[in-house]
Amino acid sequence: MRFGMFDSGVGGFTVLKKVIELCPNNSFIYLADTARLPYGVKTANEIIKIAEEISSWFSYQNIDAFLVACNTTNAIALDVIKKKLDVPVFDLIGSAASTIHESRVGVLATPSTVKTKAYTNAILEFKPKTFVIEQPCPEFVPMIEMDNINSDDITRVATRYLKPLLNENIHSLILGCSHYPLITPLLTEMLPSNVKLIDPAEALSFKLKLFVDAKESNYSNRKDIVDLKFYVTSNLKNFPNKAKHWLNVFPEVNLISLQNMG
Ligand code: DGL
Repeated sequence: MRFGMFDSGVGGFTVLKKVIELCPNNSFIYLADTARLPYGVKTANEIIKIAEEISSWFSYQNIDAFLVACNTTNAIALDVIKKKLDVPVFDLIGSAASTIHESRVGVLATPSTVKTKAYTNAILEFKPKTFVIEQPCPEFVPMIEMDNINSDDITRVATRYLKPLLNENIHSLILGCSHYPLITPLLTEMLPSNVKLIDPAEALSFKLKLFVDAKESNYSNRKDIVDLKFYVTSNLKNFPNKAKHWLNVFPEVNLISLQNMG
């Protein structure tokens, strides 16, 4: 089967990895909207316009399902994406919220995601008595994109972001931006051992696997390998190195323009 997915940059790689683990031997079209990175400090109107353009582009890519690999767009414009695409849409926030069992939950996310309280609202829908605290982390995405993830700088920033959540005695911590699983080793080191880290891509992949398993029995065009196609909206030269670094593939990458796609 053929799946479309997107993020502002390398964050969606963490979703792609999890999905490939559970649903290998499929085709993936990954769009990194590098020209407009970072998304996490943009207004709701800007994100809605981006979501319209991206889903319009994907509506021409002959996909069987769409994966929203970006929490910020998920939080603000999931309905826009669902309206534009006539294939099943799998999202991070809804998928993760249904799997949360702890009574005190922390969320790290971009400022634009935190503003919507999308994680809090989605979790409370399933478990109304849960205590949820959300922390905006504006500095993480630029640092992760620059691969500045082993420095004293990022440790200092992470300490500052985690403090209010740890003061609230959380039992689990949701990585509410798809870039953040790339700093799992740092966060694991900093968290008390009783705090469970939750990557929403796991719940999304599980849902996708159920979909794939149900469809695959009558799907004629099965593949024996993972087929990856990458597209970016800028920085064409850097992207293959980033894919090599994070995914260990050195793909061909194509440059596209999303202007006037909305
Ligand atoms: N990785 C995306 C997210 O999950 C976007 C981060 C950004 O570009 O600020 O929110």
